[in-house]
Amino acid sequence: MSAITCVRVGYGVAARIHELKLRASGVSTAAVVEVDPRRRRHAASDGLLAFSSCRQAARLKPTFWDICTSTSRHVDAIESILHVEPAANLLIEKPVCAPSDVPRLLALLACSRGRVVINDNYRSSAVTRAVKRLVHEKLGLRIRRVIVEMTQNRMEDFMSGRFIDQDYKALGYEGPHMLAIVQELGDSVWPPAQFERARLTDLQMHVDGRPVRLPGQRSALVSYLSRTGVAVELYTGLDGVVRDPRPPLAPPHARLRGGTRYRVVIVAGPDREGHSCEVVGFYEPSSTMGRGVGAAVVLRDGVVVGMLSIADDTMQTHLARAVDHFTGTAQNPSEALPAIEIAQMLGRFASASM
Ligand SMILES: NC(=O)c1ccc[n+]([C@@H]2O[C@H](COP(=O)([O-])OP(=O)(O)OC[C@H]3O[C@@H](n4cnc5c(N)ncnc54)[C@H](O)[C@@H]3O)[C@@H](O)[C@H]2O)c1
Repeated sequence: MSAITCVRVGYGVAARIHELKLRASGVSTAAVVEVDPRRRRHAASDGLLAFSSCRQAARLKPTFWDICTSTSRHVDAIESILHVEPAANLLIEKPVCAPSDVPRLLALLACSRGRVVINDNYRSSAVTRAVKRLVHEKLGLRIRRVIVEMTQNRMEDFMSGRFIDQDYKALGYEGPHMLAIVQELGDSVWPPAQFERARLTDLQMHVDGRPVRLPGQRSALVSYLSRTGVAVELYTGLDGVVRDPRPPLAPPHARLRGGTRYRVVIVAGPDREGHSCEVVGFYEPSSTMGRGVGAAVVLRDGVVVGMLSIADDTMQTHLARAVDHFTGTAQNPSEALPAIEIAQMLGRFASASM
C-alpha cells in the first residue's frame, strides 16, 4: 500500500471516479465507510475494506478522509470523522453542504485541527487558464461580457426521480462549477458588485400520462455586474436546450441528448485592434470531443479564427493538487470558507427566485 492513504466515506457515483483518479495520483484506499449494506458489498467486491462507521475506519489513520456522500449528508460525515479524529484532513465534494447545514459546518470546522480541501474541480481547469492567456496576453481584450453556460439533458433522470435537488434546485449540479470558473477568471469578473437577477424555471413533464411540475428544476440564470462593470451571466439548463450555442462545437438551436454536455465560458469584448471578439472555452465532455479534451476558440466578428485543443481533466488535476496540499507540498487549491459562501449564495438564489 502507498504511503498516502485515504478512507472514502460514501461509495456512490462520485466515489468510484475518486477511486480511479486518486489511485492515479499515488493514493491507496485504506477503507470505505458506507451506510448502505448493498453498497458496502459493492466496495468489498471491488477489493476494498468496507465499514459501516467512521469509528471502525479511524484506526487505519489515513492521510485524509474523502467525503463522497450525497450533499445533504456531508456534514453528518464530517461530524462522525471529527468525533473520532479531530485532526483529520478532509477532502469534501462540492457543493460543500446543504445551505441549512452551513452553521453546523462552520461550528465543526472551527474546532477541527486538520486541513480541508473542497473538490471544486473547475478551479483547476486548463481550459480556463488558456482562455485567460488568450484574453489578456494574446488579444488584449477589454472584457465587456462573460457568459458561462452548463447545459445537459437530465430528462430521463428526472423521470426516474434522480437529480431532483430540493435545496439548490437547478443550481445544485452545475452552480458551484459555474462560480468556480468566474472566480478563476480574475478580479475584473468576480466578485459581483451588483446582482441583477436570479431566475429559476420549472420543469414540466409527463409521467405515466400525468402532468408533473418540478419547481425550479429546469433551468437557472444568475446575472450580475462586476466591480469593473463587466456583465456576467451564468446559465444552466437541465432539459438539454442550449441557450448560447457557439461554433464550432454547438450548432444554433442545439438540443443535447442524454449523457452529453454543453459547458462553455464566453469572454467578449473588443481586442487591441478594436475588433469585436469572443474567446470561448469548451469544457469536456462535449458531443464531439472525448473525455479529458477541451478547446479554446477565438471568434472575430462571429467567425472562428483560431482553435486550440486542450487536455483538461479537471477532476484528476484538482484531486492531485488536494493530495499535494495534504502532504504539505502545495497550497490549498480550494479553501472551505469561500466554498461555504458560495453554498450560501446558491441557496439564497434557489429560494429567492421562486
Ligand atoms: N465534482 C464533481 O464534478 C462531482 C460529480 C458528481 C458528484 N459530485 C458530488 O459528489 C457527492 C456524491 O454524489 P454521488 O452522485 O456520488 O451520490 P450517490 O448518491 O451516488 O452516493 C452517495 C453515497 O453516500 C452514502 N452515504 C450517505 N450518507 C452517508 C454517511 N453518513 N456515511 C457513509 N455513507 C453515506 C449513500 O449510501 C450513497 O451510497 C455529491 O456531493 C455530489 O454533488 C461532484
